Amino acid sequence: TESIPELLDRLCAVVPDYPVPGVSFKDLTPVFADAQGLRRVVDAIVEPFVGTFDVVAGLEARGFVLAAAAAYATGTGMLTIRKKGKLPRPVHSEDYALEYGTATLELHRDDVPPGTRVLILDDVLATGGTVGSAVRLVERVGCPVAGIGVVLELEGLNGRRHLTDHLVHALQKV
Ligand code: PRP
Ligand code: MG
Repeated sequence: TESIPELLDRLCAVVPDYPVPGVSFKDLTPVFADAQGLRRVVDAIVEPFVGTFDVVAGLEARGFVLAAAAAYATGTGMLTIRKKGKLPRPVHSEDYALEYGTATLELHRDDVPPGTRVLILDDVLATGGTVGSAVRLVERVGCPVAGIGVVLELEGLNGRRHLTDHLVHALQKV
């Protein structure tokens, strides 16, 4: 049977020179659109962490796809970590660096009780700025990070340097 890297190689769309010349963009939308692709990726991303988390955190926007499916599949809840200004009640905010400037992620202060074990999921680990800010948000609400799961890790950008305290599980390194 097909391995996860084989499945990703088959279904992932590679877009040359997007978003800028010289970059080869890995588009996961055909993976999510495929019944086996979605199921196998979600099952594989949570597999090392089963039994160690109480809620799955998804990072807006592409992480939401994985986190909601993973939460449903594992019988847990989902925590919504959003871009700045989207959440209606009191939040914690954490900035992270972009290529030009900064961005901000936010988490409601009281969506889960302190001590809830949180598995953080996103589609891609690149510089690690996004996941790094999510880790800080989870810790600020008093919750332990059970682990971090991503589909693709862009190894050359060394995002793991921001995440040395946690187990990072990537389905494929590119
Ligand atoms: C992309 C991707 C990851 C992040 C990885 O999200 O979905 O969340 O970049 O980059 P980093 O490791 O360098 O932080 P993006 O901010 O483009 O937004 P989206 O998920 O809303 O499309
Ligand atoms: Mg994203």
